[in-house]
Amino acid sequence: MNTRLSLCLIFGAVIFLAACDKDDDSGMTEPTLYEKLGGTALVADPNSTGMIEKGRLGLRSVVDSTIFVIAADPKLSPYFATLLSEVGNGNVSNLAILSENLTDFFCVATGAEHFTYDGLDMASAHDPSTNPRMAQKADNAAYDAFINDVVIGAQQNNVPSELITEVGAFLETLRETVVQR
Ligand code: HEM
Repeated sequence: MNTRLSLCLIFGAVIFLAACDKDDDSGMTEPTLYEKLGGTALVADPNSTGMIEKGRLGLRSVVDSTIFVIAADPKLSPYFATLLSEVGNGNVSNLAILSENLTDFFCVATGAEHFTYDGLDMASAHDPSTNPRMAQKADNAAYDAFINDVVIGAQQNNVPSELITEVGAFLETLRETVVQR
């Protein structure tokens, strides 16, 4: 083999290995949490006549269940006083917006970047001076209660425990931003 050909082969091998380095040892990329929750496969939407991605349906179901768990949780319900009073008066329009916003937020956060979250950033959403719907600033105990209620919401939807652990680990990354007292 001549020197030039050998150099070309070595150079090609280096480029190939560098490209593979982005993946794990099996050469496959690690699936995102969104993919593990069902990903982009379309399924019938139980809330409409249309279709919905399985990953989004899973997240929306957890969000909707969690909102009910929070509403019944005396440690958290005071924070949601505005929303709960609206719902008590039969007005569910902001509840629907919150469900949509939270679902978009979790879709994007778990790797489904074809969705867009256009609500408030996490610091502003949890500061009563920028979001008057947040009745008071959250402390660490409220944050613990929130994670606990998300876990209950996920269990109610039969999310596998290893994925609930992943969701919990993700939620922990936002603690410092959301807890503001
Ligand atoms: C990782 C944890 C959390 C995430 C990802 C999260 C996410 C969100 C999102 C996306 C919104 C909607 C923002 C908008 O409408 O623009 C929101 C609103 C809100 N969050 Fe959180 N949140 C978290 C923790 C908490 C905690 C710990 C509390 C209370 C102690 C809380 C109380 C609220 C309240 C009261 C609202 C306003 C609800 C309404 O529309 O009436 N959140 N949150």
